[in-house]
Amino acid sequence: MDGNGRWAKKRFLPRIAGHKQGVETVREVVKACSELGVGYLTLFAFSSENWRRPQEEVSFLMGLFLGALEREVEKLDRNGIRLRIIGRRDRFAGEIVQMIERAEARTAHNTGLTLTVAADYGGRWDIMHATQSLLKARPELVHAGFDEADLEPFLAMAYAPEPDLFIRTGGEARVSNFLLWQLAYTELYFTDAFWPDFNRTALEAAIASYQQRERRYGRTSEQLIAGGA
Ligand code: IPE
Ligand code: MG
Repeated sequence: MDGNGRWAKKRFLPRIAGHKQGVETVREVVKACSELGVGYLTLFAFSSENWRRPQEEVSFLMGLFLGALEREVEKLDRNGIRLRIIGRRDRFAGEIVQMIERAEARTAHNTGLTLTVAADYGGRWDIMHATQSLLKARPELVHAGFDEADLEPFLAMAYAPEPDLFIRTGGEARVSNFLLWQLAYTELYFTDAFWPDFNRTALEAAIASYQQRERRYGRTSEQLIAGGA
């Protein structure tokens, strides 16, 4: 979700007004995904590097996050949405960690859309953390070695399939330390729309673009047509 600040600047508003408007887009996109039957939606809300922003902006974003956790969870639950938060927890205030745990527990039984919010998340952190956790759980692997399948259960999104479609708003064409491991075969989609201007129609356009793609996973087009698995 990128472009909140520029959306605000264009309107001669403070950056935080863009973040506030961005929450409205989150509501619309979550609703649309839920209605469209999307299984998993993962939003990159706050990266490991976003702590470097001015302290005022960081505080505002934390307040928004806490407010959303307080206000929206009941509605998510009513709509059968399961909420998960991925990323480091040790740098958040205690009350945020508490709200995260409560929100996850409350929606854990839901079977509709799984909504994941990546907060204090970084793709490199995820891989490092998974490696450390794996070796802690199975120290014998330090010498025996291990493979991808050994590591995957320890990654932050082990509960979800790998993403089919990645959408970045705001005109930059980079991944910025999002789900590095999980994006290996994901279709990438970049749009100039600022996040607060993104909406259901824009989401449908991204999905339509995805539907035009041929996913070959290293094979040739001819192999796919012949149905060779
Ligand atoms: C994305 O919008 C929101 C967060 C990272 C929290 P930005 O704040 O990055 O907006 P721009 O890139 O400055 O326009
Ligand atoms: Mg940005």
